[in-house]
Amino acid sequence: MKIHRLPALETNIFYLLEEDGKALIFDPGDADVLQSFLKEHNLKPEAIWLTHHHWDHINGVEQLKSHYDIPVYSSVFDSKRLSFVDHGLKAGSEISFHSNSFKIIDFKGHAKGQIGYHCEKSRVIFVGDLLFSLGCGRLLEGTAEDHFESLNRLKKLPRDTKIYFAHEYTQTNFEFLKTIAEQVPPEDSLEQIQAHILWLKRDQEFTSPSTLDFELRNNPFLRCSFQDFVEIRKLRDLW
Ligand SMILES: [Fe+2]
Repeated sequence: MKIHRLPALETNIFYLLEEDGKALIFDPGDADVLQSFLKEHNLKPEAIWLTHHHWDHINGVEQLKSHYDIPVYSSVFDSKRLSFVDHGLKAGSEISFHSNSFKIIDFKGHAKGQIGYHCEKSRVIFVGDLLFSLGCGRLLEGTAEDHFESLNRLKKLPRDTKIYFAHEYTQTNFEFLKTIAEQVPPEDSLEQIQAHILWLKRDQEFTSPSTLDFELRNNPFLRCSFQDFVEIRKLRDLW
């Protein structure tokens, strides 16, 4: 299974899985970007999987669905509010793309219907806007408790899991991290973290995927108490 990363809109990263000439599309916030890519690489899309309902994750769904006649999957919660969704997925259920099976994890907090897609065999997870490298999604629909519990579910996965997040905010998150490093100190030095970001960006302008290991060592939102989580989430919103 090959994972393609496509920079799109202002800060989004779209993901497309490829196996045997077939493709699976995650969160298409813009159909044109994906259609050009599919054409260029001669890939046949088979389905669209959504992590949540925000416009930058779904804007391209209807165009792609009508052009390729493919099914759309989301959480059960989002399937009730998005008319173009064909199948609602429950937390704990499994869904496959060719030889890879993905388990659905409840990631509500940033959005009430947000889910993650975890493939244990390939050690990958698609988290939507639950977490970004060195940061996390804003609390837009769910409660702080929801979000904190969702992050705790992510923390339980194997440390070598690659995390595919949906926005490139890593450098900005690093600048914020510097302002709270005394309150929630990272395990690596700030110099090491900056060097790591630059290394990840060496050939493309984005840092995804990260690893759970790196985030557990350095992401303040995974390294704090619930009280600190509420506080630093607020500070980040105002920063
Ligand atoms: Fe979002």
